[in-house]
Amino acid sequence: MDRALEYLEQNRQRFLDLLLDYLRIPSVSAQETQHADARRAAEFIRSYAAGIGFETRLFEGDGLPTVHAWHAKNADAPTVLVYGHYDVQPPEPLELWESPPFEPAIRDGVIYARGCADDKGPSLAMVLAAECWLKGEDALPLNLHFIIEGEEECGGDVVHEFLKAHRDDLKADALVVSDSSAVAPGRPALCYGLRGLAAVEVSVHGPARDLHSGFYGGAVQNPATALARLVATLHEPGGRVAIDGFYDGVRELDDAERARINLRPYDEAQFLRETGSPSTFGEEGYTVSELRSARPTLEINGIFGGYQGPGMKTIIPASAACKITCRLVPDQDPEAVTAAVTRHLEAHCPPGVRLEIQPHHGARAVLTDPSATWPQRAARALEAAYGHAPVYTREGGSIPVLTAFQEILGLEPILIGTYSPDERAHSPNERYPVEDFYSGIRTGVHLYAGS
Ligand code: BES
Ligand code: ZN
Repeated sequence: MDRALEYLEQNRQRFLDLLLDYLRIPSVSAQETQHADARRAAEFIRSYAAGIGFETRLFEGDGLPTVHAWHAKNADAPTVLVYGHYDVQPPEPLELWESPPFEPAIRDGVIYARGCADDKGPSLAMVLAAECWLKGEDALPLNLHFIIEGEEECGGDVVHEFLKAHRDDLKADALVVSDSSAVAPGRPALCYGLRGLAAVEVSVHGPARDLHSGFYGGAVQNPATALARLVATLHEPGGRVAIDGFYDGVRELDDAERARINLRPYDEAQFLRETGSPSTFGEEGYTVSELRSARPTLEINGIFGGYQGPGMKTIIPASAACKITCRLVPDQDPEAVTAAVTRHLEAHCPPGVRLEIQPHHGARAVLTDPSATWPQRAARALEAAYGHAPVYTREGGSIPVLTAFQEILGLEPILIGTYSPDERAHSPNERYPVEDFYSGIRTGVHLYAGS
């Protein structure tokens, strides 16, 4: 392994330049105008993996391609799948970036670019760790498959198709995912839980067109008012979700789990600084750490309708709409939650409007046993790479596709958290310390050694 680590030291600058080139590709999956660029990012990773000795394919399902690169030459060695994503969140609002999102800049040892932490840096690091073995030691000590997809950030399900089509080629001992955060700079995490997801889009339709509010106002229902009333029924004033059946299946936290979640000290002033919120708010009886990772939520992600331009416009809008996502915890069933939300919306919709609800694919929460063999190997790899044992964390975000790995391949994800927690993923000025990148590569090198 020493020569693999030496190879990393000799190639630090080239690896960094490679990451910067990758970050220059605006692979925003949610925006169709960027799909040609997303395909370029897929090809970037595919051809790099091919160049270091992997067999590769681009799986073209119904959507953006999934990159599959594999090196499986030793039937007696264990097989590890590594999952990551090459797509990134939209960079908007652009005016809040200190340097343009797709022109990576390094300031004080920190890279600023959309996707640097989530997830181009951490996933590329896992590929480069394979290169360190192949070029530094002339061989990989295990069989390795990379599955790097392009629809993680937009809820696509092309990976389902890929896993179904190739399930026999993908029999493996472990699934490793490097797409979650560390607990502090230089302090890695082994994440044993993520929340699941349920999502619906809701629209409320009134008159056939925007109406003059003087001619007609008072005699027809206003869709924006109706939607506001409807949205207001979704929560109790204290923040608990007020939908019948929403909490069905929610596993209550036992004392040991609560202790584990609250092990990391919570600093309220720091939390308020980080979020910019004037205060915390949430269900009574739970700490902020519990609320953020282990309790289910229902959020309005956007609400719109009617005139949005400057000045006044006296109309009754023809429609209004909102987008809703719920974060789920074990053992909530995403379909049952979607059905409960739908029933509630139908039952509470005010008169005088027509309601339309469009459900999306959901995903179950992830909760794994970090004491199993491979998670412990990952923990040792993190410790060797950072000089600090990882902290066991439970995170509030979601990686919906992990449900497919569980259902189709029977694999529980091992989530290694290597990027600093103030990475501003999904926000302007997303950041990724250069040292996190090298630590990520070192983690891969140790992990592939399998000890
Ligand atoms: N990297 C995140 C997942 C994540 C977030 C892990 C926070 C740990 C902590 C991932 O890329 C992501 O943002 N997922 C989306 C999924 C959604 C678009 C369906 C999310 O959680 O919002
Ligand atoms: Zn991600």
